Amino acid sequence: MDIYHGSIVYSKSKDELAQFTDSYIAVENGVVEGIYPVLPEKFAGAAVTDFGNGVIIPAFSDLHVHAPQYPQRGIAMDALLYDWLHGYTFPLESKYADPEFAKTVYDAFVDDMIAHGTMHAVVFGTIHSEATGYLIERMENAGLHAYVGKVNMDMESPDYLCETAEDSLRLTEEFLERYMGNRTAKPILTPRFAPTCTFELMKGLGKLGQKYQVGVQTHLVESRWEAEESVRLYPECGCDTGIYEHAGLLGNGPVVGAHFIFPKEDDIRILKKYGGYAVQCPDSTLNIIAGIMQTGTLMDRGVNLGFGSDIAGGANLGVYSQVSRSVQLSKLKEFYEPDGNRTISFAEAFWIGTKHSGELFGKVGSLERGYQFDALVIDGLADPFHELTPAELVERFCYLGETGHIRARYLAGREI
Ligand code: GUN
Ligand code: FE
Repeated sequence: MDIYHGSIVYSKSKDELAQFTDSYIAVENGVVEGIYPVLPEKFAGAAVTDFGNGVIIPAFSDLHVHAPQYPQRGIAMDALLYDWLHGYTFPLESKYADPEFAKTVYDAFVDDMIAHGTMHAVVFGTIHSEATGYLIERMENAGLHAYVGKVNMDMESPDYLCETAEDSLRLTEEFLERYMGNRTAKPILTPRFAPTCTFELMKGLGKLGQKYQVGVQTHLVESRWEAEESVRLYPECGCDTGIYEHAGLLGNGPVVGAHFIFPKEDDIRILKKYGGYAVQCPDSTLNIIAGIMQTGTLMDRGVNLGFGSDIAGGANLGVYSQVSRSVQLSKLKEFYEPDGNRTISFAEAFWIGTKHSGELFGKVGSLERGYQFDALVIDGLADPFHELTPAELVERFCYLGETGHIRARYLAGREI
């Protein structure tokens, strides 16, 4: 039994934070056993790690991040999506044909993700199997909960970063067979987005999804250009999300659609039907995409939501920064388009970034009894001149926190 003393904050429900001051959290075999204001008799003699005024919170989940774009953080941020992809991102991703380059970057990426308090993630690799294999193995060995995908793209892509549908499907099946048995870092199908995938490829991926019962991640109605281009290419599917449904890619496992900024009614209906997650990437939205997700409306309509750092569309790996940015963006959305939009509360945003998105991976994202103890200890944000509640300290962390404010990190009860 491991006992930790300090303040404790987690999401009790969608819009309510639970907070405890001067309390104890007991962890048994990496799983939360309970929270106590006074240490019970049964734990007398157990070692207590004292974090004083530090606040123990659940670790975050990043539902959309491109590991290979880690070296591109904060560069070319004045371009829009199409130019950004073709001018910067695609040339960088082609370098992952070299496994040695990939190893250096992926080691740094995984370490930095953990430093930022993210213990669960849905991750894009590149089209390259060996490099993406290294990434998924690295995350599995670290014990991180993840879905990691070898990217598929077989049209409208530069020659140096384009596959044939046949090769793409063969390599993807090999990738699935190799990593299906992983314990925490699992494979996921990853068609980049409709504009770079033939329907032959999409349908082939749908068959693999059904055969191996694996889910799909992609970019969905991300920009006006992408939403229009998808329907122009596949008019018979009606909408962007409809393409994935027609291809048989939905309903085989987790469905994770990044951005979801310009959905038609049918996109929402289909995503909901399969319990898919719409992932807001607030920093990325500000940098390369001209639009704001209708977070409050989608939440009220029962669409599952998560946050993504979308490195390198976003430059910041901290999901805690995306929590606060999401609140800011929801205010802008309501200010400019008051009809049908509402500001979300901090409690709602924190719930999205921890407990709700954690559901995708299992019992993670909360500190209630039975949850895996994936936790952070936040410190160094208190004022000497007035007292803040633990929940206020957590809110402050999401607005002005840096990795230096994370004093300790736990994954399945182990300090890392
Ligand atoms: N759409 C297709 N590819 C990408 C990508 O790499 N990043 C972002 N943000 N959007 C995309
Ligand atoms: Fe992305």
